[in-house]
Amino acid sequence: MKHKLYQGDTLRVLGCLPDNSFNCIITSPPYWGLRDYGMKGQIGLEENLEKYIERVLLVTKELKRVLKKDGVMFWNHGDCYGGWKRGNTHYLNRSGHSDKHFKRLPRKKFKSLMLQQYRLLIDMVDNQGWIPRNIIIWNKTNHLPGPWRDRFTNSYEPVFMLTKSKQYHFNLDAVRVPHKQASIERAKRNRKSSVNGSRDPYNEQSIRISAEKDCHPRGKNPGDVWCISTGQPHNKHPAHFPLKLVEIVLKAACPPAGEVLDPFMGSGTVMEASEKLHINSTGIELSPGSIEINRKRMLPYLNRPNTTLEIKAPDPGHEIKLLDESGNNMIKLLKNWLKKLPWPRK
Ligand SMILES: C[S@@+](CC[C@H](N)C(=O)[O-])C[C@H]1O[C@@H](n2cnc3c(N)ncnc32)[C@H](O)[C@@H]1O
Repeated sequence: MKHKLYQGDTLRVLGCLPDNSFNCIITSPPYWGLRDYGMKGQIGLEENLEKYIERVLLVTKELKRVLKKDGVMFWNHGDCYGGWKRGNTHYLNRSGHSDKHFKRLPRKKFKSLMLQQYRLLIDMVDNQGWIPRNIIIWNKTNHLPGPWRDRFTNSYEPVFMLTKSKQYHFNLDAVRVPHKQASIERAKRNRKSSVNGSRDPYNEQSIRISAEKDCHPRGKNPGDVWCISTGQPHNKHPAHFPLKLVEIVLKAACPPAGEVLDPFMGSGTVMEASEKLHINSTGIELSPGSIEINRKRMLPYLNRPNTTLEIKAPDPGHEIKLLDESGNNMIKLLKNWLKKLPWPRK
């Protein structure tokens, strides 16, 4: 399969991609006010939520343009609470990234969920014409207990399923799940005889016909609550998708040999899942560290005869920053240090 990974700012890269080119988009953007990924130009550190939403709406507008008419987008987006300095930056502190960009989130909204994903969604639907088809609840089955005594632990995140048109590609059969035995028994009990329309508990043929009608022979629609544990143990990216979630999406919403886009590719979960399912992929990611995780992750697949990974250079004008453990720009430090050297000698 063909995989392309662009290193750069998502809005700039999207601007270079042609209209109507992807069958499916699945992504999780950086949420507002939650993490500092340690790069200049990252999304999520805007000084207020309005500015963040304004910026992300530019991205979603571009995503609608590059999505095929019969394409589907899955957008996973969590939230944060007002008033706290910042959210979960354990990973960042450990890796030495600077969190100096973080300001305290609005005090007047102290303890209040910001509802960032729903504010964004409403704008996307009202002003950009996206059609919301589902709000899937990703129930994180391995969520941590949490220290809170005055509220429940957040154990799920929504995933919005959005389309551009009323007709779109969706292969439900590919993701059906087995019926529960109790449902099959209920269907059998409720069946009517196909012969005379009356109940006939002993007619095997009518049992089969009715059970197939009430319980689809290929299995049940999985519904909009997905119980999937978070992440893979060896993945160092702090906010990576579980492979299983992406696989369900791709099986249902991307035709074989189609192409999927993740405009915030992170560690490359969408790329790995697409390779496994024989789907082409394109990813965009700003962080050189995440690009490297993604590249290493794809190495085992690159000896397959038809699999290629092309990593495209940063888009022109994008400044790469090599940060040291305290967040200092190493290239700038090196240039200054070189200037102080006593040569060229006169
Ligand atoms: C929630 S993570 C995505 C994780 C990914 N789904 C995975 O499975 O690893 C969001 C990603 O967006 C990237 N990012 C932040 N600002 C960006 C920008 N302006 N352009 C492109 N990527 C950006 C971050 O570096 C981060 O890796």
